[in-house]
Amino acid sequence: MVDMETLVSLCKRRGFVFQSSEIYGGINGFWDFGPAGCELKRRIKDSWWQRMVQERNDVVGIDTTIIAHPQTWIASGHVNSFNDPMVDCKGCKRRFRADDMPEGYVEGKCPECGAELTQAREFNLMFQTHVGATADSAALAYMRPETCQSIFTQFRNVQGVSRKKLPFGIAQIGKAFRNEITPRNFIFRSREFEQMEMEFFCHADESEKWHEYWIEERFNWFKAIGVKPEGLRLRPHDQGELAHYAKGCTDVEYQMPFGWSEMEGIANRTDYDLNNHMRESGKDLAYYDDQRKEKVVPYVIETSVGVDRTALAVLADAYREEDVKGETRVVMGFHPSLAPVQVGVLPLSNKLKEQAQKLEIDLRRHFVSEYDDAGSIGKRYRRHDEIGTPFCITYDFDSEADHAVTVRDRDTMQQERIAIDKLLGYLRDRFDRA
Ligand code: GAP
Repeated sequence: MVDMETLVSLCKRRGFVFQSSEIYGGINGFWDFGPAGCELKRRIKDSWWQRMVQERNDVVGIDTTIIAHPQTWIASGHVNSFNDPMVDCKGCKRRFRADDMPEGYVEGKCPECGAELTQAREFNLMFQTHVGATADSAALAYMRPETCQSIFTQFRNVQGVSRKKLPFGIAQIGKAFRNEITPRNFIFRSREFEQMEMEFFCHADESEKWHEYWIEERFNWFKAIGVKPEGLRLRPHDQGELAHYAKGCTDVEYQMPFGWSEMEGIANRTDYDLNNHMRESGKDLAYYDDQRKEKVVPYVIETSVGVDRTALAVLADAYREEDVKGETRVVMGFHPSLAPVQVGVLPLSNKLKEQAQKLEIDLRRHFVSEYDDAGSIGKRYRRHDEIGTPFCITYDFDSEADHAVTVRDRDTMQQERIAIDKLLGYLRDRFDRA
């Protein structure tokens, strides 16, 4: 498996991920996605949305604000208890999470310089801001630390307009912010990230059945986007590690270069959130079931996955090195549906620019394509291997006469001569078979 240093370097070299504000020395825990990375993230989100919302008639989507009424976070428990224990080094002034110290840590001693550590203090992970012109406590607001709370606060509105009956789900993709004490492992744990969350509302007596269903469904999604099954596992939480709101939780974990790590949590949140928001707001969020002839506060099965973490798993999983005639070839073997560029069009010479560009414009309507005439053909192949382009099409001097192009397969490196009028069907077929 690739080591993190190699992966981070490739991500920068090929435009997947850059350090945020790099020209100012960076800002810890914040990352920017470059041209290849933002396409990859977009495809991950599209795949999730298609499977979770568009292909189902029991889940609808919403898109809510990052800043919500501050009462939201009192009701959810975040103001009081979204804390991590923090310790400071009295010598080098570094800061650590007391419950997540590095291996070999000696109690009370700084793992970096050996000086004494302070007692642990509770540190709230929510970023604060102020709404409006005054910066007093009345204007205090929070950047959401998870996207799901507005799904609960909008439950009645969404249920009403969508006319859905239990069981049904509400899904959302959006930014979340956590002032992590120790952001680390590249984009795995950052301070600004994106979540894809779905809250599935159901009757309490059916919640265990739905919990099992969503665990399996979510595990299958990771396989469907091409993550190798041997790098994936399900890990049910022990009673002691369950979040205060959860009756049960199972994580999907991926074997990262730094060990097995949580990608997604699938939790039975019971009626905890709706009850809390009913109590704090004084509004009735209960649901009337006209078949059972009863009013209920639904139970909720939550599926919650990070876009950035999924992108990191996909990147680590796709990376491979091969020896080709004594030289190392680096290939990102993404599933074709996730590849940032699906088809590269490369003229063999600049003299063929016009014809190759025309071909690329024709392909654009069907695939995410890129015209690339920079550097030697060998260098262009290498670049496309490293951004994971499944097919490169070379327009050469014979193309004028035989109306055909050479299609190179990223994985096998085999080249096939394909008539231009058959190219679209050929590529469609190859993508369908992937
Ligand atoms: N609504 C439930 C919830 O937010 P969580 O386990 O705290 O649960 C869910 O977060 C997912 O969000 C995680 O499995 C992970 O993929 C992603 N995530 C959480 N904190 C993150 C961070 N600091 N950086 C990147 N992704 C994060």
